[in-house]
Amino acid sequence: MSIPAIPLNTGASIPQVGAGTWPLDDAEAADVVAAAIEVGYRHLDTATRYGNETGVGEGIRRSGIAREELFVTTKLDGEFQGSDRAIAGLHAALERLGTDYVDLLLIHWPLPQRDEYVSTWRTFEKLHADGLARAIGVSNFTPAHLDRLAAETSIVPAVNQIQISPAIVRLEQRAYDVAHGIVTQSWSPLGGRKGAGSLLAEPVLVDIASRLDRTPAQVVVRWHVQQGLVVIPKSSDRARLAQNLDVFSFELSDDDLASIATLSQGPDAGVDSDREGH
Ligand code: A2P
Repeated sequence: MSIPAIPLNTGASIPQVGAGTWPLDDAEAADVVAAAIEVGYRHLDTATRYGNETGVGEGIRRSGIAREELFVTTKLDGEFQGSDRAIAGLHAALERLGTDYVDLLLIHWPLPQRDEYVSTWRTFEKLHADGLARAIGVSNFTPAHLDRLAAETSIVPAVNQIQISPAIVRLEQRAYDVAHGIVTQSWSPLGGRKGAGSLLAEPVLVDIASRLDRTPAQVVVRWHVQQGLVVIPKSSDRARLAQNLDVFSFELSDDDLASIATLSQGPDAGVDSDREGH
């Protein structure tokens, strides 16, 4: 199965579907990551805040797949914001992951009340120049935060990872990212641990899935793919991991997309970027 590669502003590319790992612990993450790689995933998403980087590293080693075949993302949270704090943060994360670089390093939350995301970004620029982070990006940033980075720093983030699902569409943020060459990644793409059950039971999705002989989760992952988003569904179940990656041999029609658009909870739905979430 070939997974489309989405180009980043660094010249590298990112596999369009990856495996999410929140809220797995180390032992679970090792099993899930090994299974994910076995069924074809090459893109893995973790964060220091998830507390499972050691497990993700263990799963990668268990898979036997060469490091350079994989795209590994981690994120540094508030503890590592401020001038140079991210240096020790990334070194510790690399140690836990058992690798000497990440493909993508993200500022996990902007935390504007701390007002340290600009100095943190300058440190990220150094980590990128040193080759420890092949690409650098952000998570949960709004256009206002990105405007400030653009005014005060030199590198445009490669990625902005934000909460997106058919219920939480974030059109304004996505348009900003497109206009600035930033790839948008969707977290909680199936609705998240608490929301996936109800989102995937939506009659609109169930009907489309049954007509296409697919599952509602596949319809939702395919929806992200057709919007040009990079998507990281999480599943602890091997069959569902495989199912969530098997979305490249069918297509949603314009009518399907219009029906799915009715699930949107409105332009302002989604998490508050001012506080730290998972
Ligand atoms: P599980 O891990 O038991 O498979 P998100 O990716 O939006 O964070 O959603 C994750 C939630 O969606 C988890 O509770 C996960 O449960 C569930 N999930 C993942 N893939 C599927 C699937 N193909 N069908 C149904 N539920 C799924």
